[in-house]
Amino acid sequence: MGMYDDLLKHDESLFKNEYALDYAFLPKRIPYRESQQKFLATCIRPLLADHNGRNVFVHGPPGVGKTAALRHLIKELEESDQFADKLELIYVNCWHKNTTYKVVLELCDAVGYAFTQNKNTEDLFKIVSQIINKKSAIFIFDEIDKAEDTDFLYILSEVIYKKSIFLVTNYKSWILELDDRIRSRLLLEQVEFPQYTEDEMRGILQERISYAFTEDCVDADALQLIAHKAAEFKDIRIGLFMLREAGFIAEEKASRRITLMHAQRAIEKLAQFSIKNTDELDDESKSILKIIRDNSGLKIGDLYKVYEKTGGKISYKTFQRKIAKLDEGRFISLERQFAGGNTTIVNKKLTEY
Ligand SMILES: Nc1ncnc2c1ncn2[C@@H]1O[C@H](COP(=O)(O)OP(=O)(O)O)[C@@H](O)[C@H]1O
Ligand SMILES: [Mg+2]
Repeated sequence: MGMYDDLLKHDESLFKNEYALDYAFLPKRIPYRESQQKFLATCIRPLLADHNGRNVFVHGPPGVGKTAALRHLIKELEESDQFADKLELIYVNCWHKNTTYKVVLELCDAVGYAFTQNKNTEDLFKIVSQIINKKSAIFIFDEIDKAEDTDFLYILSEVIYKKSIFLVTNYKSWILELDDRIRSRLLLEQVEFPQYTEDEMRGILQERISYAFTEDCVDADALQLIAHKAAEFKDIRIGLFMLREAGFIAEEKASRRITLMHAQRAIEKLAQFSIKNTDELDDESKSILKIIRDNSGLKIGDLYKVYEKTGGKISYKTFQRKIAKLDEGRFISLERQFAGGNTTIVNKKLTEY
């Protein structure tokens, strides 16, 4: 009988929309980013009066709403009767489209041009520019630091008449390495997205709660703790993750509310999650991880030398690949430095989960 009761209780979910805690979810508002959004709006305003827009370098640490704010801008413009047919809105993630050729293919795709086979980069730019130049254009190149070449920026600055180009990255120093020729062409404005304070994180999470859960079911001290943890890790995404976990834990216990205890469990789970993942690493990656923990802050090339000295056998290429995997799994964090040539600094996590 008890079991049956439990099943019944499980039926009433605390979640109204679990997807609202997903990283990809785009909320209606991006709080604490109003001034940046206003600034970006002033940079595109000339386009609406048929003039050239301004170009902007957007930077700030990971997870501070850069992508969210720009996607939000696109969405607003797309939905506006006044602007939608005046503007070509193009978002490119340079992690996936990291060469000039891949970028131009993406532009073709964005404007609906399909006959790209057997055409070279130059031909394709000619074709897309003719299409795009019928309107004004906003280009957003997100994660621009991942682009292997930046010729497309120079080309766009030449062939597109009325445009705003936004370059987005976690690395402020990236701009120092940008080709002078391109920099002087683009005359980049700069806008910074700073790290959120703990209060701001709490505000953002509070707003997500109203999307994700049935009304008012998160205790204030539970939210407080989760916001505090997120601030400690300097990552709102960890806050979103813990909020969802706390929701699952509360449901498992058939609780109608998410309490401090559930939040604490969620934090413990985060720790277990990472330990479990380490178990799943292959032996080579585990020993590399150990070397990183003992030698945090080295350039990747120097780290490889240390690895070789300890008897490591894999090639530098494979080593780089394993490092990238460790980064993806958030076991370590990579920092790109652009001044004086591209280098990658390999850091252990600031705080181990
Ligand atoms: N001000 C905000 N309001 C609501 N959600 C936010 C805000 N800032 C960040 N987020 C959320 O945090 C996550 C990371 O934000 P994102 O824009 O991808 O960061 P960035 O591009 O700066 O690395 C996303 O899920 C995003 O929706
Ligand atoms: Mg982003």
